[in-house]
Amino acid sequence: MTSKSANKMWGGRFSASPADVMEEINASIDFDKVLSPQDIEGSKAHAKMLAEQGIITKTDAREIVRGLDKIGDEIAAGKFKFSAALEDVHMNIENRLRELIGPAAGRLHTARSRNDQVATDFRLYVRDKIDGFEAALTSLQHALASKAEAHADTVMPGFTHLQPAQPVTFGHHLLAYVEMFARDRGRFDDARTRLNECPLGSAALAGTSFPIDRAQTADALDFDRPMANSLDGVSDRDFILETLAAASICAIHVSRLAEELVIWSTPQFGFIVLSDQFSTGSSIMPQKRNPDAAELTRAKIGRISGAFQGLLMVMKGLPLAYSKDMQEDKEVAFDALAHLHTALLAMTGMVGDLKPVPEAMKAAAGSGYSTATDLADWLVRELKLPFRDAHYITGQIVKMAEDQAIALEDLALSDMQKAEAGITKAVYSVLSVENSVKSRKSFGGTAPQNVRKMAKRWLKRLEKDLEKV
Ligand code: ARG
Repeated sequence: MTSKSANKMWGGRFSASPADVMEEINASIDFDKVLSPQDIEGSKAHAKMLAEQGIITKTDAREIVRGLDKIGDEIAAGKFKFSAALEDVHMNIENRLRELIGPAAGRLHTARSRNDQVATDFRLYVRDKIDGFEAALTSLQHALASKAEAHADTVMPGFTHLQPAQPVTFGHHLLAYVEMFARDRGRFDDARTRLNECPLGSAALAGTSFPIDRAQTADALDFDRPMANSLDGVSDRDFILETLAAASICAIHVSRLAEELVIWSTPQFGFIVLSDQFSTGSSIMPQKRNPDAAELTRAKIGRISGAFQGLLMVMKGLPLAYSKDMQEDKEVAFDALAHLHTALLAMTGMVGDLKPVPEAMKAAAGSGYSTATDLADWLVRELKLPFRDAHYITGQIVKMAEDQAIALEDLALSDMQKAEAGITKAVYSVLSVENSVKSRKSFGGTAPQNVRKMAKRWLKRLEKDLEKV
């Protein structure tokens, strides 16, 4: 084997050092160093509690805290040298602490293990990310609701099967996403509530014989309470699974909006113009304006749901308590959460900057006989026909207009009367797209008055929420 000495942290019973490939498979420092701030925060809380409980001296605790603060500064300044031989963030920091303050550093690990340490660090990290999503989602909702208020009357085609179905307003369409992102916030908030219990003090798996005060460390780290079972404390990763599940659903919502931005900004649709800030040109085709930011935002779901699936497989069938498999939880989660955050910021920028083209939306809204349902509804309302019969008659009228290659409102009354003798010229009033949307006043419907009211209500609430985040 190599001539390296056995590991300083746990090498007492070892006579040989790890194989090079062992170090390669085992070391997590390249990625878990991002947990440094949380690791330091957790260690400070632990050291203070140990001193208060008389488990270590106050002097040692003070030295430990001073050393940890210094390490925090070194890391923030990019001066800290992380070493793969020291495996992970926990041992890198403890080793440096020993260099800085001497033997007192060795007392920090009393009544704790890396198992409860990493579980604590990771919960703190994920909690921060969730708070970041709360802020980013609120801003995105605000951008959507502002546009929705400005375009409460802007008529566009509503689609089913991506075929023109019934006219809606652009504001109504945007508010649909505000609702989706509200549920995403709710899911993250739920995950945060369940996550917010402290595993520190679970030690390796069984708790400890030292008289620790778990409530104190939980409180110092802003957790609601200590986790009630030490085996559970070090074994479960449901907090990150749940966060990744919420992140996946959120990324699905983002991808659908992104896809619509891509479609709407094509010359064929021409419903919106994305700003230069969120478009790119082509290196060969001078005319091109590509919606790269929307495309990339659309694609983020791949890695985010990949992380969720991957971690599910890591956790499947793992016996209690800690297994090293769980080290595989971090890299994918760091990546997924970072990319969702970027996607949300990019989406907020795109929505805020986009310029709708109301004329193009309105022209498209009238195509494809999108007011045919309004005609059928008129037959029901005015002529008291059963809806099924009205549907059939309207179908015949649409066919006539199609044969003449004209819009419904351009079809002669005499033609309409061939399908149903009772039709009068009053019918034409319901065939315009504006009147169609105005008539849909049912709760949750697309009528501009509804949309304006909902947009205002959302903006009021979101402005309050933005003050909190
Ligand atoms: N780097 C490890 C992880 O992320 C820390 C816990 C190590 N625990 C152990 N018993 N080897 O999971």
